[in-house]
Amino acid sequence: MTNQSFTRIAHSPNSRQADGVSFSTLSAMQQALSHEPLATSPPNQRRLSFPGGMQHPRLLQPFDREEIRILLLENVSQGAVEMLREQGYEIDFHTNAWSEDELVAKISEYHAIGIRSKTQLTRRVFEAAEKLLVVGCFCIGTNQVDLQTAAHHGIPVFNSPFANSRSVAELVIGEMVALSRQFVDRTLELKSGTWNKVSKGCFELRGKLLGIVGYGHIGSQLSVLAESMGMRVIYYDVMPLMPLGSARQADTLDELLSEADFISLHVPGLPETRGMIGSREFAMMKPGAYFLNNSRGTVVDIPAFIDALESKHLAGGAVDVFPREPAKNGAKTFNDELNEWTSALQRQSNVILTPHIGGSTEEAQSMIGIEVGNALCRYLNFGGSIGAVNFPEVNLRHITEQEVRSIRICYVHHNQPGALLAVNEIIGEHNVDKQSTDSMKDIAYLLADISLVSDAEIRDIYTRLSKTRACILTRLLS
Ligand SMILES: NC(=O)c1ccc[n+]([C@@H]2O[C@H](COP(=O)([O-])OP(=O)(O)OC[C@H]3O[C@@H](n4cnc5c(N)ncnc54)[C@H](O)[C@@H]3O)[C@@H](O)[C@H]2O)c1
Repeated sequence: MTNQSFTRIAHSPNSRQADGVSFSTLSAMQQALSHEPLATSPPNQRRLSFPGGMQHPRLLQPFDREEIRILLLENVSQGAVEMLREQGYEIDFHTNAWSEDELVAKISEYHAIGIRSKTQLTRRVFEAAEKLLVVGCFCIGTNQVDLQTAAHHGIPVFNSPFANSRSVAELVIGEMVALSRQFVDRTLELKSGTWNKVSKGCFELRGKLLGIVGYGHIGSQLSVLAESMGMRVIYYDVMPLMPLGSARQADTLDELLSEADFISLHVPGLPETRGMIGSREFAMMKPGAYFLNNSRGTVVDIPAFIDALESKHLAGGAVDVFPREPAKNGAKTFNDELNEWTSALQRQSNVILTPHIGGSTEEAQSMIGIEVGNALCRYLNFGGSIGAVNFPEVNLRHITEQEVRSIRICYVHHNQPGALLAVNEIIGEHNVDKQSTDSMKDIAYLLADISLVSDAEIRDIYTRLSKTRACILTRLLS
């Protein structure tokens, strides 16, 4: 195996600013600088393939690969576990969630943690997390994490908001077929013994116009799938977005509502989208149109939807998301106590009701594992924070294998006047190849690559950056 080089930076428990560089850091730095050429990627690490003559990116190492420890809770996907093990990290895998007390007792041993929705990462947990660099939520939501406290400790939190886009888009296709063939009513009838073979009011999707509201990850995938079924597509989005295939962007929501045969919502749940579809919007829809909501429950006025169904203005609809949803699975949990119109909605014909399953597939779960696992590796190995939910998003192009005496500085700091000036006074004395910075509220993050530095200079850069007034955390990768 080739020699592995890495740079490990010690953090003081509270401020995360070390006064000096630890022995292991120094020896690692010396090791990094003593190999000519520097070690290439170890055989067990994934390598990207590049056309001949192209310079390969060098995989940077923030820690001794034998030492870095990742705690994975709540049975996160095995694909992610394998990916992280392949990187040489030491993995502590548990199928259950840990309580706050358990986490407070043990979190100081770990550099990264992966959780799903049940583990609460509170202020107490972050205050005990002396070495923690990054959090991965192997799920969509991040409500279980105190995001602000994490950011104040210099810790980015990654999740996987888009891994289930395809699952939702496919569900919509299925729902449109089912609605236009009155599947649900025929099934319920036959299950109770009634044979009711009808073709009136049943249609093919081919040639129908699908109106997609919100042309993001899900909306745009749906657009492609729908066209492949022979549908025509119109979409409305607050952003001007490039159409896929033969789709076209409507100028206004009203234009889409008045033209489409099927209307499918794919907007985020924001204050601006709350109640965006109500009586006025249902009245604008074509008689006989179908309405589908797989986005967020707050977006639609359900009593107005029920009125549009009862008056037969709409031919049917599908709802997967509700303003209030039961906290757990179980009989009789979806009732009028939860939302006062539940039984009225349940009585409507040609309406598909599903318990927020749009993104719930095995494939989506494994995609989440890959996406979050990759985000953890990217941050630990390269410092890139693109996709973090609580943290400035910064990335730099790779340091190549040819750039042997280069280091990458990852500097999380308070977003305060003079912070960058202080940094540039330190690194400006050196050959700064590239530098990028961004801020989110009161936290800022800077990545900078410096080349042709000696071990003494690296030590000096680290010590001085760690002592800057704005510093929250300094890491050097090499
Ligand atoms: N049913 C499920 O299980 C399930 C699963 C995943 C996502 N979702 C939900 O689906 C929705 C879409 O998800 P996504 O991943 O495609 O999101 P996205 O962020 O990729 O896309 C949302 C799009 O909506 C647009 N938009 C925002 N406000 C708008 C407005 N007022 N009018 C028109 N367009 C507007 C945005 O510009 C963006 O293009 C979200 O609400 C998400 O929570 C549901």
